[in-house]
Amino acid sequence: MTQLVNTQINGDAVGFACEIDETLLDVLRNRVGLSGAKEGCGTGDCGACSVILDGTLVCSCLVLGVEAEGRKVETVEGLSDGADLHPLQTKFIEHAALQCGICTPGFLMAAKALLKNNPDPTEEEIRYALAGNLCRCTGYDKIVRAVQATAADMRGS
Ligand code: FES
Ligand code: FES
Repeated sequence: MTQLVNTQINGDAVGFACEIDETLLDVLRNRVGLSGAKEGCGTGDCGACSVILDGTLVCSCLVLGVEAEGRKVETVEGLSDGADLHPLQTKFIEHAALQCGICTPGFLMAAKALLKNNPDPTEEEIRYALAGNLCRCTGYDKIVRAVQATAADMRGS
């Protein structure tokens, strides 16, 4: 059964039609044309599909597209302001916090959600906030350093 859904994605009003059992991840990638969120597992274990829904970090593989009705969705595509990268993106590049990049959109969104609520996180808090995101390449340290550097940058310290 197909249902019409009206939502807001990265600040824009977006309407789409989807099957009632279709995940938000599949809707974003296959119907809305936003392929930044990745499917690593499809079962809520890897965080590669992370997006922010009404301010809360979620695994979009565990959310139905119809659940986005009337809600605000933020994806990695909305991080930059045109050609101006978000500080997280800049610091990930500077700290070489990505290799294959499959996990990176999820880490960026998880880090964004963390810094919005906690602009001065400890290393432990960063690692805890990113614990739902798996990376097979970097060993995590560079990602943590990039988030620490972003937090300092955004605080102006
Ligand atoms: S694809 Fe959603 S958590 Fe892995
Ligand atoms: S950079 Fe390859 S999985 Fe994280």
